Amino acid sequence: MDGGIPLNGEITVAGAKNVALKACVAAILTDELVVIHNVPQIRDVEWMLEVVKSLGITITRNENTIKLKSSGNLLSRVPMEYGARLRTSAMVIGPLLARTGEAKIPNPGGCRIGARPIDRHIEGLKQMGAVIEYNPEDGYFYARAKKLEGVVIDFAKNTHTGTETMILAAVLAKGTTVLKNAAAEVEVDDLIKLLNGMGAKIRRVNDREIVIDGVKKLHGTEFRIMPDRNEEVTWAIAAAVSSGEVIVRDSRLEYLGAFIKPFVQAGGRVEKIDETTTKYSRERRDIQSVDIITAPYPGFMTDWQAPWAVLMTQANGVSTIHETVFESRFSYVGELKKMGAMIDFYDPVVTNPESYYNFNWTDRVDDYHQGIRISGPIALHNAVVTIDDLRAGATLILAALTATGESYIHGAEQVDRGYEKIEVRLRRLGARIRRVYE
Ligand code: EPU
Repeated sequence: MDGGIPLNGEITVAGAKNVALKACVAAILTDELVVIHNVPQIRDVEWMLEVVKSLGITITRNENTIKLKSSGNLLSRVPMEYGARLRTSAMVIGPLLARTGEAKIPNPGGCRIGARPIDRHIEGLKQMGAVIEYNPEDGYFYARAKKLEGVVIDFAKNTHTGTETMILAAVLAKGTTVLKNAAAEVEVDDLIKLLNGMGAKIRRVNDREIVIDGVKKLHGTEFRIMPDRNEEVTWAIAAAVSSGEVIVRDSRLEYLGAFIKPFVQAGGRVEKIDETTTKYSRERRDIQSVDIITAPYPGFMTDWQAPWAVLMTQANGVSTIHETVFESRFSYVGELKKMGAMIDFYDPVVTNPESYYNFNWTDRVDDYHQGIRISGPIALHNAVVTIDDLRAGATLILAALTATGESYIHGAEQVDRGYEKIEVRLRRLGARIRRVYE
């Protein structure tokens, strides 16, 4: 792709990946038809559909709408080849336990952003009465339960999919489940809306507490998934770093407070055109450095720090990013440096790292660093770079948009995991980007 071209025009935010994946899991909870609209056409969804199909769900697809229907005869084993690709494949464990009494789940894969264990999910399910054993020889969790029972689960640390796993397990359980210190991410609430539309009884009683009254049966429904917050942030940064003007449709500013504040502080401009349309551009020529600490919702999302780093390469002075959610999410740094970025690692001083960080401190490897320092402004130049994970992929594309000359990005399939037809949509904004099939 060629850099140095301002992006101008309109783009519509696709449906949220991190709701679409869980909507596929929700369909296992009923034998009736579940119709989901605004499903992004991305690789992770394709893979998740293969997972549920392998369990006995029939799928019909028409562009951004999917129809899922259980055959009524569910299988309880997720094939290793699907499970290894995708972390959310493990989330079928609750619905399978509820509906078949057993589940065999491979230790999940997903983006390479740290150890990413599922201990918080497993512990919660055990509390509900499931017997779960891990066999290190074949890499499978073997779970069984006669009937899951409602309990009080107090998460020691925030877990987004862990909270959703427990919700998906509790909807058909006997009695009431209370989730304390539950994740507050808006995607969790979208999943709750979908499940309540299927007849579940779930309510968020305060910011971090969710109560689920188990019901006997769920029914079919039709549901439209919320737009993807991470995409909107990507388009906002794309507008600012390229000195263009991008009008974003299906925008949800109400979910982006933690991004908009530093974005404006850095010199980005945000104009609300109507409830769901926002124009993003650059307020002034000079971008200012702003320090970021990632956090669970309503904080600055971990998914935004990689694209944010590209904006900060264009900022005056030194800025820092302190990653607190994952222990290894700076895979893009080496690649950005190939384009001329000046970034070094540092170790932020933290008094109680065991409780401060969202990941399990014991999973940390000695040569990981939780902070980076970015010095700018730097005129990035073209390079041949390789994508390691989804958000890093979007980041390298943004960097190449800013850089002089033609860049070559390997591993585009990582971006396809979460961004629908990214090169086609960027071309409509004027980017000179093409996919080279190898
Ligand atoms: N963790 C554990 N044990 C657990 C669960 C989590 O150690 O049982 C650790 C994780 O390794 C991580 C931290 O706790 O260090 C937080 O994990 P969390 O469970 O909150 O994250 P997640 O559910 O694995 C989801 C999204 C991520 C997003 C985070 C934060 C999905 C499929 N994934 O991950 O999205 O970054 O929440 O909001 O919903 C992406 O879209 O590319 C992506 C990685």
